[in-house]
Amino acid sequence: MKLKIFLIGFMGSGKSTIGKKLAKAMQLPFIDLDKEIERKAKCSVSDIFKYLGEKSFRKMESEVLKSFENETSFVMATGGGTPCYFDNLEYIHSQGKSIYIELDTKSIYNRLSKTKNIRPTIKDKKEAELMEFIEQTFVNRKHVYEQASYKVNGLTVDLKKVMELFK
Ligand code: S3P
Repeated sequence: MKLKIFLIGFMGSGKSTIGKKLAKAMQLPFIDLDKEIERKAKCSVSDIFKYLGEKSFRKMESEVLKSFENETSFVMATGGGTPCYFDNLEYIHSQGKSIYIELDTKSIYNRLSKTKNIRPTIKDKKEAELMEFIEQTFVNRKHVYEQASYKVNGLTVDLKKVMELFK
């Protein structure tokens, strides 16, 4: 069986946590795209942003996303921006199915304010700035996330129901 599942959604929506659980339950390999970028670049995502800039990061992200072409099945947690650049979303849908892990901006804010130091796009932002950034970026990206094959609520994910989508 050939099954590639890509989880998409905003930073902090739970793509990696849910992706790991889903992969385990479906007995599929799990791929964390940010971790793969770090492994291949031998450098953290934060440092790629800092020293090479976002443009270089987005190029690497797209290349690494497409480097799993020969794998047959997996669950991949993508980065929050992945489907929004180049032809990445089109590529994802040429390979398999996507699931949008949907979360409201308030919940995203609550989660990100606790972990912002490890996230290069938000680590220097103060509270009000962070909320503004989330709301603005969300407005820009929502229409891309909404093109996913399936959508699940990030606060009430039911793994069994998600698995049924692929039966
Ligand atoms: C980004 C999200 C991050 C990571 C990078 C950029 C974004 O991934 O790819 O910091 O632009 O939303 P997570 O969504 O896994 O935090």
